[in-house]
Amino acid sequence: MSTEEEQQVSEAQIAVHWREEEFYYPPAKFIGQANASDPAILDRFSEENFPECFKEFADLLSWDHYWHTTLDSSNPPFWKWFVGGKLNASYNCIDRHLEKNRNKSAILWAPEPENEEIKSITYQELYHQVNEFAALLRDFCGLKAGDRVTFHMPMVPELPVSMLACARLGVIHSEVFAGFSGASCGGRIADSGSHVLVTMDSYYRSGELVDHKVKADEAIATAHELGFDIAKVLVWRRYPGKYGSKTPMVEGRDFFVDEVLKDFKGKIVSPVSMPAEAPLFLMYTSGSTGKPKGCQHSTGGYLSYVAGTSKYYQDIHPEDTYWCMADIGWITGHSYIVYGPLALGTTTVIYEGVPTYPDAGRAWRIAERLGVNIFHTAPTTIRMLRKLGPDEPAKHNYHFKHMTTVGEPIEPEVWRWYHDVVGKNEAVIVDTWWQTENGGFLGSTLPGLQPMKPGSCGPGVLGVFPVIMDEDGNEVEAGSGRAGNMCIRNPWPGILQTIYGQPERFVQVYYEKYCKDRNSKDWRDWPYFAGDGAVKAADGYFRILGRVDDVINVAGHRLGTKELESASLTVPEIAEAAAVPVVDELRGRIVEMYVSLKPGFQPSKEISDKVTKAIETEIGKIARPKNVWIVQDMPKTRSGKIMRRVIAGISNFTDAGDLTTLANAEVVEGIRHHVQSEKLAKGDVPRELSPAEIDEIKAFGSAE
Ligand code: PRX
Repeated sequence: MSTEEEQQVSEAQIAVHWREEEFYYPPAKFIGQANASDPAILDRFSEENFPECFKEFADLLSWDHYWHTTLDSSNPPFWKWFVGGKLNASYNCIDRHLEKNRNKSAILWAPEPENEEIKSITYQELYHQVNEFAALLRDFCGLKAGDRVTFHMPMVPELPVSMLACARLGVIHSEVFAGFSGASCGGRIADSGSHVLVTMDSYYRSGELVDHKVKADEAIATAHELGFDIAKVLVWRRYPGKYGSKTPMVEGRDFFVDEVLKDFKGKIVSPVSMPAEAPLFLMYTSGSTGKPKGCQHSTGGYLSYVAGTSKYYQDIHPEDTYWCMADIGWITGHSYIVYGPLALGTTTVIYEGVPTYPDAGRAWRIAERLGVNIFHTAPTTIRMLRKLGPDEPAKHNYHFKHMTTVGEPIEPEVWRWYHDVVGKNEAVIVDTWWQTENGGFLGSTLPGLQPMKPGSCGPGVLGVFPVIMDEDGNEVEAGSGRAGNMCIRNPWPGILQTIYGQPERFVQVYYEKYCKDRNSKDWRDWPYFAGDGAVKAADGYFRILGRVDDVINVAGHRLGTKELESASLTVPEIAEAAAVPVVDELRGRIVEMYVSLKPGFQPSKEISDKVTKAIETEIGKIARPKNVWIVQDMPKTRSGKIMRRVIAGISNFTDAGDLTTLANAEVVEGIRHHVQSEKLAKGDVPRELSPAEIDEIKAFGSAE
């Protein structure tokens, strides 16, 4: 390790000092009805019972053929769960509930326009819709088990219908968040080798009927450039029979689903019995380097894990009305809108639009109207609802027994508003820490048994044993006040099986850092490296600080610095680009770009606008930078590496740190003056940063 790297590493490990928060205890009423209220469950899932403890999760499912081996760890880190078992995910989420609950709502869909009716889809109706679409995928598209299909679908019931239809056939779905650009969808089509794209003509967002089909054409063009062609595009229509997009349909390639489905009315498709280890879906996410990674999730392990965690951590009972306001285009939606809740036979609410549209009372009107009693969202949304309508919840007659926060650290202040105002002091809260790669929760309190602590996710979940490690692989002691890298000592059933098509990258990203012996067949030698910094309090609760791998978490969405930088470099005038995170009151972090120009070009607003546009085109509007700073020269090390922590410090008005390792320290003052004076003039100064945030900024860029 070079001196420069050592320097950065030690910065990443600076001690953090917390004000310890008080515990909050779950209300007696909640405990009285909780799925986990007997502490014996903690013993059943203790380390000495690993991995057999997970039988309890697998037994929540219906298996066509029961499994013989709980965990096969003979080829680490390619773990196999419930080996020998066969099952079908669609059967588990639909068919098995029909006998008792066919007329119960499986999905309640709230369209964004408030004058449109709420749509209830019963389990019986879901069964028919899924069967018909599965027949279409099989007989019209020729899809079979193991094939991949890309979805680029918004928050409409046709998305879970499409997912479950694939699952029925053993076809692997890969949903791309609808807000992502056509180009990023195209990259995922090519990477997954999908021959079919399922999309939608239009959907509502902030009162506007968005033309979505246009992105399909962009996606196909990008996939084509990458050497991959789509055979069929299936277009669901927001209003069947009425096309809501200006983009022409391509003869022989594009088909309206509502028209083709007419040939499949009443068709029933037997669920294909899949091995537990058969992949169920891919979900792409950003990492520090390279293109997004296709996290491959299994059928048996994943479904068992989301069913178990939905039961004990979301406290879902079949009679609950459960609303997770995340997008199904993210892992949270896959696990905790679709697969987990439906596997347990509950009613899951899907809302099409923006939580604050047309006003900050919307979410609470939906909750009241539908009788939602379990509510799930992200800190960014909570911060937004608090800012726009701090008194709104009290005006609405809903009662939550349980609430979740997920995806980003939540400030204790915001947590308390969530608890007192949204939860009306009646609801228990779980702060669930996990990742796209994990399938389900990894860190959370067990709501009926473990008290809550604002700002901390709590201990590891049942059967999951986290540890904080320093750079040398030594455990950082609980209560030491020192931060380190969050790792999980053991495999769990929901873990990704691999990065699609890149097994070496899978081993390298998650295991190389702390693997004790590459030849070892013992899972104890293969801790999972999560890429998050964390501290562990003396009571065993973890507080997650944020990514340590140059991934920027904007409103709970992971954006890789490399992706942002490569998008900027598609602008012909740009010579170099660096992305940095800036602390933001509402969205947690936002992106700022620093770029330098090729010789002969002068800085102009036109060029910075081009950079913004390129990022929107390559990734999507969620990645739009707050500012694009054109600088003459980037601060660099002697080996030519851009020191992102220095510019990150400037953008956040924090100390830029040690400059002695820079080859061109003289440029720093000029950049600081240029950036900060413009920000001051615009009133664009971040709030005072916490010690942990200062540490994060100081360490930014050290992962490279
Ligand atoms: O940095 C952590 C943060 O979000 C990252 C995972 O992002 P993604 O794969 O998009 O999945 C989000 C939904 C599961 C993590 O590496 N993160 C997630 N949950 C929390 C969190 N940070 C703090 N507290 C959480 N509860």
